Amino acid sequence: MIDTHAHLADNRLDAGQIIANMAVNGLKKIICASFDLESSINAVNLANEYRNVFASVGIHPNDADKASDDVLNQIFELSKNKKVVAFGEIGLDYYHKFVEKGMQNEVLIKQLDLISQTNLPIIFHLRDAYLDMQNIINMHKHKIKNGAVMHCFSGSSETAKFYTDLGFYISFGGAVTFKNAKYDEIIKSIPLDKLLVETDCPYLSPEPFRGKINQPKNVRFVIEKIANVLRMEFEKIEEITTHNAQKLFKI
Ligand code: NI
Repeated sequence: MIDTHAHLADNRLDAGQIIANMAVNGLKKIICASFDLESSINAVNLANEYRNVFASVGIHPNDADKASDDVLNQIFELSKNKKVVAFGEIGLDYYHKFVEKGMQNEVLIKQLDLISQTNLPIIFHLRDAYLDMQNIINMHKHKIKNGAVMHCFSGSSETAKFYTDLGFYISFGGAVTFKNAKYDEIIKSIPLDKLLVETDCPYLSPEPFRGKINQPKNVRFVIEKIANVLRMEFEKIEEITTHNAQKLFKI
């Protein structure tokens, strides 16, 4: 299994312990995701320290107000590190509205400009901003040359199709396991070669650990849920999602 999105540097997690137990827990690799400059630096440090840990760097829409040109330049420099395998998470979040829409849009487009100068795929965060995101992607898709994933996908099947038609991957996290969740039809609509799994730990613990601190090893429950929905073997979904992650992130 590969956890394609873990906030390993979060101080609620014991990164050393988690990484030491990776093999025992069936985890091949972890991608340490970032949301601001500090978390990007921490992710790169962890990735440089541990062979099976990789990093993403970028500014999350909820932190877009911290993305000065100087900060974006530092992120761009960090992206050149050889253990950095993705740019993100970047995107739009109109659910939390921590940062006003105009600034979120501006920082997203600035980062797409930077990404066009790298050979990195993108990790997109998208929440309640479907139309604006599609407009930005339509206008700037020539800058996305190395693939992308919609992380912790929570949109409709139609939204998913817009992205898979562009060759993007769709990643599911713990929310698909929630008892009241309505993800089955969306999961069934995703082409198998575009399917990824993640935990987004320490957030979004899957059932049966909902509400607790999430950990990369819990990605197992996401795979199990998808396998149940698709009536396939756990091992098959594990193999497919591992292969997809290796392909997108070149790891
Ligand atoms: Ni995240």
